[in-house]
Amino acid sequence: MLLQELSEAVGVSGDEEAVRNIILSAIDGHAEHIRIDPMGSVTAVQPGTGGSGLRVMLAAHMDEIGFMVTGVDSDGTLRFTKVGGVDDRILPGLRVRIGADQIPGVILWGPIHKTWEQKSIAKITSLRIDIGASSKDDANGKVKAGDRVVFDSRFMEVGDKMLRGKAFDDRVGCSLLVDVLQGGPYAVDVLAAFTVQEEVGLRGARVAAQTLDPDVAFVLEGTTAHDVPDPMADPDAVTRPNPTCKIGGGPALTVMDRSMVTDPRLLRFLRGTAEANSIPYQLKTALGGGTDAGAIHQANAGVPSAVISMPCRYIHSPSAYLSRDDYAHTLKLIQAALNSLTPDALAWE
Ligand code: CO
Ligand code: ZN
Repeated sequence: MLLQELSEAVGVSGDEEAVRNIILSAIDGHAEHIRIDPMGSVTAVQPGTGGSGLRVMLAAHMDEIGFMVTGVDSDGTLRFTKVGGVDDRILPGLRVRIGADQIPGVILWGPIHKTWEQKSIAKITSLRIDIGASSKDDANGKVKAGDRVVFDSRFMEVGDKMLRGKAFDDRVGCSLLVDVLQGGPYAVDVLAAFTVQEEVGLRGARVAAQTLDPDVAFVLEGTTAHDVPDPMADPDAVTRPNPTCKIGGGPALTVMDRSMVTDPRLLRFLRGTAEANSIPYQLKTALGGGTDAGAIHQANAGVPSAVISMPCRYIHSPSAYLSRDDYAHTLKLIQAALNSLTPDALAWE
């Protein structure tokens, strides 16, 4: 499965080569003008068949959150810093892989009789990565400052409907975009962008949008599902809190987030397309977070933009969950949109 290959590939922001190579071979023969732009993003064009001339950018980011080695202590442990938004709460005991050789390591996890991490969450500056080295010299032969560090995580199927893995943000978007290209062409021209450096500030998408100069953009994302089970809830309660974005609810359409207000015409179009095709969907109204659309909608003279996201539980962790049904519904919505979008949809009411 392509999603497995993409999930297990290593590509912390600025070091997306392994992901890029998987994508280049997967889209070979399914698009034209395939190129690597000066930032490292992959762009490609699939001409449409509908004659409207509409140029629709589809963007998904190749990079994932992780860490970077900043130095080696005399005892052979590694100092490190975050690349992108990693939650301090998941650090102690975390298994990681370091550098091009994928050296295994574990983030220190203090024994219970050490008091420094018992009561509060350990800060990253007080933690080190242990690679089993006995000294600075020993460690220096294996890793160096600047090496990227990723979650050590294997992809797997969980139950009948769920998939588990790392980097679903945004390898699931990359997988959807490959499936879209392989399933084309569509009525409109598809301008595909597999972008770099989203997690550190939407940087690749800004350049890709300037270069592709689309009429419209859809960003394909993995987003936070707010349906994490509540262990404090009454186990026998008939009604449970109703999360805004949940696994199994279908693609999430962003209304607004920290980086963008979704173009109202495109939101109306996507809702109408989902309803016309009996595709379940949900509206994402949590104002935290941002996506590549934050950069794309302000590129050039402005690009009407919307975000179509796959709900993922435990996102930005080594063990995110997503649903196969959501994947199928999200792909169906994107493809229906590409076959029904016309300039009329962009009329102001
Ligand atoms: Co992210
Ligand atoms: Zn993302």
